[in-house]
Amino acid sequence: MQLSDIKKVLILGAGTMGQQIGLQCAMNGYGVVYYDISQEILDKAVKRVANLAKWYATTGRLTQEQLQQTLERISATPDPVKAARDADFVSESVPEDPELKGRVFAQFHQLCPGHTIFTSNTSMLIPSMFAGATGRPERICALHFHDLRATTVVDVMPHPGTDPAVTQLVHDFAVSIGCIVIMLQRENHGYVFNTMLSSLFFSALTLASKDVSSVEDIDRSWMGVTYMPMGPFGIMDQVGLSTVWSITDYWAKRAGDQQAQMNADFVKQYVDRGDLGYKTGKGFYSYPNPAYQAPGFLAGGTEKEK
Ligand SMILES: NC(=O)c1ccc[n+]([C@@H]2O[C@H](COP(=O)([O-])OP(=O)(O)OC[C@H]3O[C@@H](n4cnc5c(N)ncnc54)[C@H](O)[C@@H]3O)[C@@H](O)[C@H]2O)c1
Repeated sequence: MQLSDIKKVLILGAGTMGQQIGLQCAMNGYGVVYYDISQEILDKAVKRVANLAKWYATTGRLTQEQLQQTLERISATPDPVKAARDADFVSESVPEDPELKGRVFAQFHQLCPGHTIFTSNTSMLIPSMFAGATGRPERICALHFHDLRATTVVDVMPHPGTDPAVTQLVHDFAVSIGCIVIMLQRENHGYVFNTMLSSLFFSALTLASKDVSSVEDIDRSWMGVTYMPMGPFGIMDQVGLSTVWSITDYWAKRAGDQQAQMNADFVKQYVDRGDLGYKTGKGFYSYPNPAYQAPGFLAGGTEKEK
């Protein structure tokens, strides 16, 4: 199989990341089909994808003609048989649970053609945790994206059983959709950037959950010293607090780490209230005008978020 054989990309899970990944593929000439568990979710997702594409057009990332062509390449269906038909490449973005990922891949192994390559966008898991369950372990590897509105850096991470030709093809595919590829030579929970980011999240959540300092002052400290436009809590709001909670809680339980569990419980209060971050308009901050973007924030002159 060669790169030119890849025509249709199937996106499993049309949430925050699935939407962006599908759009990136469609913008670069691939046919894209979104699959999710209900028509309602897909209708919302396709609207969000169209809005994101229109925003890209306003920033010059797409011309009006490219915008039209991109949207024409996109379809969505809650019917797994239809979704899998003719899929050459799968990008999975269902919730961060190894059993769920294994189950979804096993389902699509039965439905997709034999040549189809499977990739996972997992944040902190490793492909060997669910490669066996997929039914085609030699054809799966991780292709992990960050927030595509901000960066096209991706990680390509095979597991020991991935066919090296598949790893190469996934690398070539990522380059073909305009990505900067970081290759991992061995499996590592969190790839390269997320390994560093999770240490930052852990430290920030520990400071807040132990009541050492406020969310705003922790971010102010990071922003003031590094000149970054947002701090760890602002970044968590962008990632989505249900995703931050599920990853933190999973690893806390797996490691039996008390502090990590306190950190997960701290995020859980927000998740339980439905404050999931940027996507719901409220998380650690309120959107569209979060306090950390206000002119006086660094000086400590803005109202404290409630
Ligand atoms: N949010 C981020 O910044 C980010 C970045 C990189 C990687 N990731 C990873 O990407 C994956 C998805 O994260 P997200 O933030 O997009 O989550 P999300 O909750 O926004 O989206 C998940 C989607 O999967 C769907 N889903 C659930 N069960 C399904 C099933 N059986 N079949 C098909 N679809 C199903 C849900 O309905 C939902 O639409 C996770 O593994 C996460 O760790 C997230």
